[in-house]
Amino acid sequence: MKYLVTGSAGFIGFSLCQRLLENWHEVVGIDNMNSYYDQGLKQSRLDILEQYSHFRFIHLDITDYEKIIVLCTQEDFDRVIHLAAQAGVRYSLKNPFAYADSNLNGHLAILEGCRKAKIKHLVYASSSAVYGMTDQTPFNQNIPTDHPVSLYAATKKSNELMAHSYSYLYQLPTTGLRFFSVYGPWGRPDMALFKFTKAILANEPIDIYNNGNLSRDFTFIDDIVEGVIRISDIIPPMNLKNRLPASTSSSEYYRLYNIGNGQPVQLIDFIAVLESLLGKQAIKNFLPMQPGDVYTTCADTEDFFSVTGYRPQVSIEKGVKAFVEWYQSYYELVSNL
Ligand SMILES: NC(=O)c1ccc[n+]([C@@H]2O[C@H](COP(=O)([O-])OP(=O)(O)OC[C@H]3O[C@@H](n4cnc5c(N)ncnc54)[C@H](O)[C@@H]3O)[C@@H](O)[C@H]2O)c1
Repeated sequence: MKYLVTGSAGFIGFSLCQRLLENWHEVVGIDNMNSYYDQGLKQSRLDILEQYSHFRFIHLDITDYEKIIVLCTQEDFDRVIHLAAQAGVRYSLKNPFAYADSNLNGHLAILEGCRKAKIKHLVYASSSAVYGMTDQTPFNQNIPTDHPVSLYAATKKSNELMAHSYSYLYQLPTTGLRFFSVYGPWGRPDMALFKFTKAILANEPIDIYNNGNLSRDFTFIDDIVEGVIRISDIIPPMNLKNRLPASTSSSEYYRLYNIGNGQPVQLIDFIAVLESLLGKQAIKNFLPMQPGDVYTTCADTEDFFSVTGYRPQVSIEKGVKAFVEWYQSYYELVSNL
């Protein structure tokens, strides 16, 4: 099949593209290569993708809606997997307009491109952040998500609502995926595992918020990729019987799922796994809770399992080990260049 993947130089986009290319699909990747984090890391991911003859990269900003529409209508994509976004909760307090640009205008441009090209299925990234102030765990997809605690979360919730309006108005099949703390090789430098590894190896202190009293439903990248590929082949049908829809489904061609491990880990335990793999103790700098953060995340994965038959498989010990091995070999290579 022919896929359009937005955010292809990003962590999840790169890993997804690589798997699709290994399976001999044709992939067009777009990314604006922004400087939110190390552009060298994004370029290294892209260098790997460009070794595949059936991959094509277009340096493009998703807010350039005219070019997005031309791209979608001129190429015959079977699937659009939309992952490009301004990610990160804390940065949304510093630079809120970056979120309005990429996550609202950019998302709209992708919706427009998909509807004009009559794309068979748009799969897009939402986030566990949409659960905001809720304290009902595990997070079932049908609990209300009306109280986000960061602008990032508010834009991701908006993405779901915008997708619903396009599914309703234009019969565009859309599936939103609420990802839960994704980690693994080629991961993001602004996320905990990357920051902790870097600091521990450099004998620098690590910042631990809410005195470590936080838990996260860490989900390994390979489990996310497998989930995205499986769900992209399950096109939401119209369901006229569903006149009083739950929030994650609708009478329209619209679905939402959690993709998470379903097994939250205390931050302190996560750090202990990392310390034992690195053979070094972290210097811990305990800090209060950060604005925009939530205490816990935990995915209810039953809906996702019932449609895909898939549950995440990779344990924290295996996943963190894979990350550490990648980190050490990648940065040894980079430092020798
Ligand atoms: N990694 C996680 O734990 C996590 C959790 C929940 C949701 N998500 C969502 O999953 C998606 C992928 O996340 P990621 O971790 O791979 O992040 P990432 O930052 O590594 O990847 C996003 C990519 O999109 C690109 N991009 C950003 N704005 C763009 C624009 N306007 N035009 C074109 N390209 C643009 C960036 O350059 C980057 O390469 C995002 O939508 C993110 O919000 C991620």
